[in-house]
Amino acid sequence: MARESGLRKSLAAKFDDEVRFFKGWMDKPKAVGSIIPTSSVTAKRMASAVNPQSGLPVLELGPGTGVITKAILARGVKPENLYAVEYSHDFVQHLHRLYPKVNIIQGDAFNLDKTLGALNNQQFDSVISGVPLLNFPVQTRVAYLESILKRIPAGRPVVQITYGPKSPVPPGLGAYSVEHFDFVLRNIPPAQLWVYRSRPRHS
Ligand SMILES: C[S@@+](CC[C@H](N)C(=O)[O-])C[C@H]1O[C@@H](n2cnc3c(N)ncnc32)[C@H](O)[C@@H]1O
Repeated sequence: MARESGLRKSLAAKFDDEVRFFKGWMDKPKAVGSIIPTSSVTAKRMASAVNPQSGLPVLELGPGTGVITKAILARGVKPENLYAVEYSHDFVQHLHRLYPKVNIIQGDAFNLDKTLGALNNQQFDSVISGVPLLNFPVQTRVAYLESILKRIPAGRPVVQITYGPKSPVPPGLGAYSVEHFDFVLRNIPPAQLWVYRSRPRHS
């Protein structure tokens, strides 16, 4: 009986997330990008790149309903060591309720200098991004990645989710490497995961 009511609660919470997500998509389809939240399988795979033992905080960009936030915390990252930047006021309110100890910052992930404010010089262990990059011009995507890479140690990953066949940040346009990380069928739509790292510039 208790198990059944637990299951009902978790199904209701999942449905709430989907409704919230769909509403967000109706309001701002370009910013939300997808009409269904990221699956827990995808979220877990993305969070697997985080090193909870590095002693550095983790940065999440575009957390939305918090599915990936949950997976990052499940990796053993303390909520105080997780910073999540979300543009939408509604998602921010929801995330504050769900994860009161996580540092939720309302702002634009494309303008991290301003959004991170006093944390602008902070180094992070890694960055997990759900921001829908394909809705922006290629030069904006490259600038986004470069602004993130300078905030993590050389060699540490930026993990990006996307739904197209190619890397949303093309190789060859800056001092970064591009690696296909995974293709997750158990996601609607199926998700492609990419990893970017700093690459020393040739002189
Ligand atoms: C495809 S959704 C992914 C959300 C999350 N992975 C989930 O499953 O709930 C993209 C998220 O990025 C956020 N977003 C879009 N543009 C942003 C920006 N410039 N800065 C911060 N967040 C942004 C959207 O509000 C949305 O929550």
